Amino acid sequence: MPVLVMNKTLPWTSITLLALVYLPGLLAAMLQLYRGTKYRRFPAWLERWLCVRKQLGLLSFYLACLHALYSLCYPMRRSYRYKVLNWAYQQVQQKKEDAWVSEDVWRMEIYISLGIMTLGVLAVITVSSLPSVSNNLSWREFTWIQRSLGYMALLLGTAHALVYGWSKWVDPRQYVWYTPPSFILACLLPLSVLLVKAVLLPPCFSGRLELIRRGWERPALPTRHNAKQDSKSKEKPLLTKL
Ligand code: HEM
Repeated sequence: MPVLVMNKTLPWTSITLLALVYLPGLLAAMLQLYRGTKYRRFPAWLERWLCVRKQLGLLSFYLACLHALYSLCYPMRRSYRYKVLNWAYQQVQQKKEDAWVSEDVWRMEIYISLGIMTLGVLAVITVSSLPSVSNNLSWREFTWIQRSLGYMALLLGTAHALVYGWSKWVDPRQYVWYTPPSFILACLLPLSVLLVKAVLLPPCFSGRLELIRRGWERPALPTRHNAKQDSKSKEKPLLTKL
């Protein structure tokens, strides 16, 4: 029981922290797009959040490693051995010769594989954030690893949890007291972050953001006061002519 509970808490916290690493960047991007400039300060809470992204990412990686270790220990548990024996006994009673369920085999192969890939990508990101490694990388390489591989890890981790859920999404028995199963709740924040990222990907947003980050500023919209002054200044040369 402690192993099972821990192995729900650890991946949930890990994937939530990973989503929280990328959420402030998206909020900052949306704020810059709205303001049309990069020269205005972000709110203090957002600046503080942006500054702790590395720590959140490292913690996420650490918890993911613990989750992988816990998962690998599943078959070693005594409770699991009893369970396997009970299943075997039931199978004999039902006179079933073969217990192979292809769908379950595929599901497990895919989600374990996705989990291992997620951990691998997270390891690369973590290693690249070590000062001795990051000092030897150009700014472009560093941001590519942290940004692109980071979103890839989030995507793979979310896919890992979704495939783990498989068809349990639509199984009413999973909704105890109308509460969605834990893997659905664990996926909500990462899915929202990935959705916002996808919305900001088209060139109409990403191109504008790139310009803003290079220093471009949106011209101020004409206010009533400005418009009046503009029209007056346009009239002046005409009067002088007369
Ligand atoms: C070697 C790598 C990994 C392995 C072997 C692995 C294995 C597993 C297993 C066996 C489960 C099912 C747990 C259960 O039966 O209760 C699971 C669930 C899950 N894993 Fe992983 N995993 C790995 C990496 C990751 C990583 C890197 C993340 C995210 C950052 C992650 C996130 C999740 C989530 C969110 C769930 C659903 C937990 C729930 O039921 O609420 N896993 N994983």
